[in-house]
Amino acid sequence: MAKTLYGFEPLLAKELRNLGAGHVEEGVRNVTFEGDTGFMYKANLCLRTALKIYKPLKTFKVFNEKNLYDNVFDLDWPNYFGHEKTFAIDTTMSSDVFNNSMFVSLKAKDAIVDKFRAVVRQRPNVNTQDPDVRINIHIFKNTCTISLDSSGNSLHQRGYRILTNIAPINEVLAAGLLLTSGWDGETDFFDPMCGSGTFLIEAAMIACNIPANINRESYAFMHWKDYDASLHEKIVEASLKKTREFHHKIIGYDKAPSAVRKAQENVDNAHLSEYISVERNDFFRTKKPVEGKLHMVFNPPYGERLPIEVNEFYAKIGDTLKQEYPGTNAWMITSNLEALKFVGLRPSRKIKTFNGKLEARLVLYEMYEGSKKGKYIEES
Ligand SMILES: C[S@@+](CC[C@H](N)C(=O)[O-])C[C@H]1O[C@@H](n2cnc3c(N)ncnc32)[C@H](O)[C@@H]1O
Repeated sequence: MAKTLYGFEPLLAKELRNLGAGHVEEGVRNVTFEGDTGFMYKANLCLRTALKIYKPLKTFKVFNEKNLYDNVFDLDWPNYFGHEKTFAIDTTMSSDVFNNSMFVSLKAKDAIVDKFRAVVRQRPNVNTQDPDVRINIHIFKNTCTISLDSSGNSLHQRGYRILTNIAPINEVLAAGLLLTSGWDGETDFFDPMCGSGTFLIEAAMIACNIPANINRESYAFMHWKDYDASLHEKIVEASLKKTREFHHKIIGYDKAPSAVRKAQENVDNAHLSEYISVERNDFFRTKKPVEGKLHMVFNPPYGERLPIEVNEFYAKIGDTLKQEYPGTNAWMITSNLEALKFVGLRPSRKIKTFNGKLEARLVLYEMYEGSKKGKYIEES
């Protein structure tokens, strides 16, 4: 089962089918599928819109503490990982059987430790901060599923973003928004307020078909007993053979010198500097930096300032697009739904999404080529 963000289930299902998964089915913020061990490595490496990949071990009915303990104890834990590894249990539930997820995690921990003691006479230690092995327990009403979390840290931690600026966007969210926008690497790309450069880097990886997690060094499955390092290496090599050439430009601007420095460093970390250029620029003083069609995706500040300034800021976004960016598909995500009204252009698409806990909108403004007057759609 692959976990994802609100609304990204169809994107993730498509990614999984393209990678070769079997029996792909969309759930709520997750997609279930079938694949072998090599496919699990490939899913962790390549999926852009997955947060975690779980390997379900067992699903059973649970009515009390004893059912839980017995079912967890029954699993062959020493066969999954060695006693020298540390582990942690993460429980999510929507059930009347237990009223505390911590209690469920503790009970399950007891069962796992007791199983190790019974079979190998030694026990693994718990480490809730940075465990080697993560176990997920999900209880919905009376149904409990125990899974191994094959990813470990969330897959948005791609390994290239060492430096972050204010309000960096989650990498999985960025990739999902880019895919929603139809970004396919067939035009030039521009983020006028690039912050730490997340859209630029994810856009380059999509354009070149570079595996999303090529820069990441570790996954929880590397601590499992059945970890097959040579199979993993083969999967990485085979995925790298599928990269493609990209003949357009990816450009990022930011007004803040510190953001430009961070973005540049992250681009270097991702080994993508041959495709991406970052410059210090105030978007409101710029003109379209390329000729021909331009694909733009960005998230402006949501409003740390006074509302009146934010509204003016969004009005300037509209004016700049209208006057200086013909032939541009401008996609913008914001949580400031009030300020959005001040852009003054009618979006041709408006999609509900979330940025973390904040409800947001992804909007598309289509700026047509030709005479500046009258070709764009102006909000009445
Ligand atoms: C919400 S952050 C973008 C975060 C970015 N997507 C990331 O992943 O790090 C907004 C950015 O807009 C920049 N900014 C604000 N006003 C700007 C302007 N007039 N021109 C260019 N950049 C601007 C800020 O410096 C900030 O880095």
